[in-house]
Amino acid sequence: MVIRGLWVCKIRLVKHFGLTPVLCLLVFSCLFAGLFIDYIESWVTSLRMNGVGGTHGGILPQSVPPTRPEEYLLMPSPLVCQRAKPYLITLVTSAPANTKARQAIRDTWGGEVHVRGYRVMTLFMLGQASDPVLTKQLADEAREHADLVQGRFLDSYANLTLKTLSMLAWARRFCPEARFLAKVDDDVMFNPSALLQYINLNWGAEERELDELYFGRVHLRVEPDHNPTSKHYFSKDAFAGTVFPDYCSGTAYVLSRPAVLKLSLAAAAAPLPKPLPPEDVFVGLCAHTAGITPTHSPLFSGGPPVPYSRCCYQAMVSVHHTQHEEMLQYWADMHSKPPCSWVGVRTSLGVCKLRALLGDLWPGL
Ligand SMILES: *[C@@H]1O[C@H](CO)[C@@H](O)[C@H](O)[C@H]1NC(C)=O
Repeated sequence: MVIRGLWVCKIRLVKHFGLTPVLCLLVFSCLFAGLFIDYIESWVTSLRMNGVGGTHGGILPQSVPPTRPEEYLLMPSPLVCQRAKPYLITLVTSAPANTKARQAIRDTWGGEVHVRGYRVMTLFMLGQASDPVLTKQLADEAREHADLVQGRFLDSYANLTLKTLSMLAWARRFCPEARFLAKVDDDVMFNPSALLQYINLNWGAEERELDELYFGRVHLRVEPDHNPTSKHYFSKDAFAGTVFPDYCSGTAYVLSRPAVLKLSLAAAAAPLPKPLPPEDVFVGLCAHTAGITPTHSPLFSGGPPVPYSRCCYQAMVSVHHTQHEEMLQYWADMHSKPPCSWVGVRTSLGVCKLRALLGDLWPGL
C-alpha cells in the first residue's frame, strides 16, 4: 500500500519536474536516511515491540530449583566497589578456559578505569571448572588480577542462567553503588566510552535518580522452542505463552541501578524450570515480572557481524563475535588516530550497518 502510494507519487513528481531532480531527491533522501540509520532503527523497533501485558504467560513453577549460586568461591575484596565507586560496572561472563579472551579484554576496553570522567570497573563472572588443573589456574589468575567472581555451580552452556543469577545477586550485594551494570560476553568488543555517551545523550541529568532501565539489542516476539533436542528447548509446562516478552540479546545489555535491584529480586524469586531457560530469555521474563520494559539501542550489534571500520567501531557500544586477536588489533587501531568527526561517525555507522544487514541477507557478500 505504502509502496504503491510512493510509486504513484514518484511518477507524478517525474511528470512534473523531470527525471533528474527526482532522482537527485531520491539519492539525497537515501543518503540522509543512512546518516541517521540508528534513529530509524530505534523508531521502527519501538513500533514493533509487543509491550508489557501482551499474550504471554510467566514461568510456571515446575521443578525444585537447583542450589542458588549465591556463594562465591573466588572474588575480589568485598569492598572493591566501596573503594572504587564505579559509575559503571561491567561484568563479563566468561568460561574458565577462556584465559586469552579475558586477557585481551584486560588489555583493551576492560583495562580502563576512567572513561569520559566516570569511574568504570570490569570484572569476570565464572562458574566452577570440572578440570582440577584449570581450577588451580583460575585461583592463580584471581590472585594476580583480582577481577574474577566465581559462583558455586558447574560452568557449562546449559548453566548460563545460573551465571546470570549469580551475577545479579553479586551486584546487588557487593556493588549497589554502581549506577549502571553492563553484562557482556567475553567475545564482545565493548565500548564503555560509547555507552556513557549514549547514556548521557538519552538520559542525561546525572544527579537525578534513574528510572529502571534495561537496554541493549531487543529481540522481538521470539517464540519458545518446544523441540526437546534443541539447544534452546523450552518445555510447554515451563512457559505457557505463545511469544516471550521482548528481551535484550544476552551478548550485551545494560541495567540501571534500580533495575538491578528489582530484577535480581524477581530473578531470585522465580522458579527455575529444567532445563534452564536461555539466559537472556530468563532475564526478559524476570524484567517482565518486575514491570520493566526493555529499550532497544541500535548501537548494540545483533546477529550479523559488523565489518570493522574505525569510525563505526568508535560509535558502536558492543560488537559481537570478536576474537581476542581481533580485539587487540581493532582497539589499537581505534586509538591510533584522533576521534572521528561527527560526519565521519554518522557516515561510517550508516555504511557498516548496511553492510552488516546485506551480509546477513546474502552471506558471502
Ligand atoms: C549446573 O550446575 C549444577 C551445580 O553445580 C550442577 O549440579 C549441574 O550438573 C550443572 N548442569 C549442567 C547441565 O552442567
